[in-house]
Amino acid sequence: MPGPARVARGCFVTATDTGVGKTIVAAAICAGLRAAGVRVAASKPVVTGLDEPDGDSPADHVLLARCTGQAPADVTPVTFGPAVSPHLAAAWAGTELDPPALLAHAALAADAADVLVAEGVGGLLVPLTTSYSVRDHAVALGLPVVVAARPGLGTISHTLLTVQSARAAGLEVRAVVLTPWPPTPSPMEADNAATIADGCGVPVWTLPHLAAITPQTLAAAAAAWPLQDWVA
Ligand SMILES: Nc1ncnc2c1ncn2[C@@H]1O[C@H](COP(=O)(O)OP(=O)(O)OP(=O)(O)O)[C@@H](O)[C@H]1O
Ligand SMILES: [Mg+2]
Repeated sequence: MPGPARVARGCFVTATDTGVGKTIVAAAICAGLRAAGVRVAASKPVVTGLDEPDGDSPADHVLLARCTGQAPADVTPVTFGPAVSPHLAAAWAGTELDPPALLAHAALAADAADVLVAEGVGGLLVPLTTSYSVRDHAVALGLPVVVAARPGLGTISHTLLTVQSARAAGLEVRAVVLTPWPPTPSPMEADNAATIADGCGVPVWTLPHLAAITPQTLAAAAAAWPLQDWVA
């Protein structure tokens, strides 16, 4: 296990699953902080799935870089084509991810900024290597956690499990963000938000569906969030 590479301020954005909204939440945090005049850097240890583009959506490190002003390669040092877990993508490429190198890359990004916003890969227990998980990476960075979660059926257990898993590793969870939050939430969705907040004692916030995802629309959405509390 690599030693800690604790960065001064920031947050680690995880989610209950892959494809939930980590990138959009992390990008909104970056855009919101930057719009407030904060020097912010983003970091994501590895991006997989470049062979399977999501329509016109940019890859994670590309969108994050647009919101911070970094180059995409300064956000993410390693990318793979197949849309599989990082440990498997690396194995298929005949290599293995190097946790100390991933931490050093994140620390370098943090050095050039006041705040580091890190995005995980999938959920917390996704293996980056067979002995180093996304959760281990969050612990090594020493950042508090923001959890992106779905608004609908199934989200209570997935979110509480994620918060429990984060806390079991000593991570502090600052916020849950339900995304995309509908303009008129159903009674179940409204109850999900309240039940998650009661169940884990973490404030639950929401992100409305954004028709256009740009640094401007993301910053405007993030204006509703207490960003300074999340990255303090
Ligand atoms: N508030 C929102 N407005 C618009 N689109 C959203 C919103 N929340 C989630 N999405 C969409 O859901 C999809 C998944 O979101 P995102 O890429 O942020 O997930 P992720 O958790 O980062 O996925 P991965 O595990 O691949 O990193 C994207 O197409 C994204 O645009
Ligand atoms: Mg993502």
